[in-house]
Amino acid sequence: MCGIVGYIGSQDVKEILLYGLEKMEYRGYDSAGIAVRNDEEVEVFKEKGRIKDLRAKVDMDFDATVGIGHTRWATHGVPNVKNAHPHRSADGRFTLVHNGVIENYEQLKRDYIPNVDLVSSTDTEIVVEIISSFAQQGMSTEEAFNKTLEILHGSYAIGLMDEEENDVIYAAKNKSPLLLGRGNGFNVITSDAMAMLQQTNEFVELMDGEVVLLKADEIIIKDKTGREIERESYIAEIDESDTEKGTYEHYMLKEINDQPAAMRKIIQEYQDEDENLKIDPAIIDQLKDSDRLYVIAAGTSYHAGLIGKEFFEKWAGVPTEVHVASEFVYNTPLLSEKPMFIFISQSGETADSRAVLVEIKKRGHKSLTVTNVPGSTLSREADQTLILHAGPEIAVASTKAYTAQIAVLSILAQVAARESGRDIEINLMQELAKVTTAITAIIDDAPVIEQIVNEYLETTRNAFFIGRAMDYYVGLEGALKLKEISYIQAEGFAGGELKHGTIALIEENTPVFALATQEKINLNIRGNAQEVAARGAKVCMVSMEGLDQEGDTYVIPHVHEMLTPLVSVVVYQFIAYFAALHRGNDVDKPRNLAKSVTVE
Ligand code: F6R
Repeated sequence: MCGIVGYIGSQDVKEILLYGLEKMEYRGYDSAGIAVRNDEEVEVFKEKGRIKDLRAKVDMDFDATVGIGHTRWATHGVPNVKNAHPHRSADGRFTLVHNGVIENYEQLKRDYIPNVDLVSSTDTEIVVEIISSFAQQGMSTEEAFNKTLEILHGSYAIGLMDEEENDVIYAAKNKSPLLLGRGNGFNVITSDAMAMLQQTNEFVELMDGEVVLLKADEIIIKDKTGREIERESYIAEIDESDTEKGTYEHYMLKEINDQPAAMRKIIQEYQDEDENLKIDPAIIDQLKDSDRLYVIAAGTSYHAGLIGKEFFEKWAGVPTEVHVASEFVYNTPLLSEKPMFIFISQSGETADSRAVLVEIKKRGHKSLTVTNVPGSTLSREADQTLILHAGPEIAVASTKAYTAQIAVLSILAQVAARESGRDIEINLMQELAKVTTAITAIIDDAPVIEQIVNEYLETTRNAFFIGRAMDYYVGLEGALKLKEISYIQAEGFAGGELKHGTIALIEENTPVFALATQEKINLNIRGNAQEVAARGAKVCMVSMEGLDQEGDTYVIPHVHEMLTPLVSVVVYQFIAYFAALHRGNDVDKPRNLAKSVTVE
């Protein structure tokens, strides 16, 4: 949520900042701004809406080589120009961008700047005003910045410019991501490496509580006591072309189409030279040493976790609970004696999940993060990491990360089963290869699925997704995908649960998507489909070869029963995509959302 960038060097900063913000628009896209300095002063440009709107507004008749920028997902204050960042102190000296939430901003306002009239209704503006008030009391900028950071409660990644110092950008972070990028004659700050890949692929991590003085030719990192810290840089292994949508109309469409390649990459990354499944033995030891797994995740990743539970329990024989991250901290269950926590997160930055990680680390529990982003916060802070290898996912609606999560969890569970001597009759690599072929077949069928959307979803305001067993979990994901980008009210239900209340909502022509890919529930779910059809519902029956019956709307290719979610979900991804497209929605950037949810 929200992304920040900063550059100090010798090139024209305007393009660098705007390009960086465009790359980070997925983090928030309701307003944006940049602050750039010419020789004399700092100039601020802000606009409501997308980066393209900001771009149209930036009217610079001077060259600038230092600047900071921000793309916003509103937390405090509606999206408008006043609330957009950068925020500037009333005396005009300091300019600041912030990603995160300052929880104690009202109290800070009362205690430190009671007489300052704020321009915006954000939690951020007080930060720049407090820095300014400390500077007015005679502190150096560094002292004023440090002193302000000491009193902030909450999360932040901050970039700060001082009009009186043209050779430095100050930066700091707590809980929100921030990377330092090293260049030749320039340096950058960025919430996401992707945003600065055109400039550099060499990055330095910044830890919570550290402060940075970013200069064109050096990066000075200091800890809380002011001691300088030396830290090695690393090369980000991201191909810039992976972050482009190429010939696809939308990132989401590209990412759905990326799934066979992602599967192949996972198969390749998680096997050894003898083509045996491999997972870091330290992770397997951790898992074998645990008496219960606690999977923590949000949204789509939570849905992947539900499928993962099936693998862990049925294959590895480890009891597993799956929890919504934002609830876990408040509704913490009684933990087993030797719990192990598995965090599933595409971005590796989700604040709700991180809050759990911080808490369980305090209690001394073991943790593993399964993420698409190496070096992300959850990856750095957990004991172990498994990478998804799905390539950057840019569209807000998650697609290839979900299937990659399921595939990686299946491999983890299989290796754990094998190493515990459990006799599981499945050649997972072969089965995943079949899955890859099946996904490709569905991708080829996209026009057929578009017809389903024409038939079932063109005018409806609501839709239901029913299933049983694993199909129920896929239904939850299908409903989430549909609602988040098409804005059709959609709910996923266990097929047997409808009659306990929800069936009252079924009216003439209510679309109900029913999934039947599991032999043991094939007849039951068809029974549920009959029940809703009898009450007027328009049932779209999606089944699997071998279990299909005459009249089914769409039949997916046959794959191993435990792996059907990897394939059936692709049908639902396309359904959501076409429904959103036909409604003229912004498929990649649905309203009110952001990709990386870094606030709790
Ligand atoms: C939905 C979607 C979200 C994310 C959720 C968690 O399409 O993408 O529900 O799954 O915000 O994000 P990560 O996986 O980055 O922790």
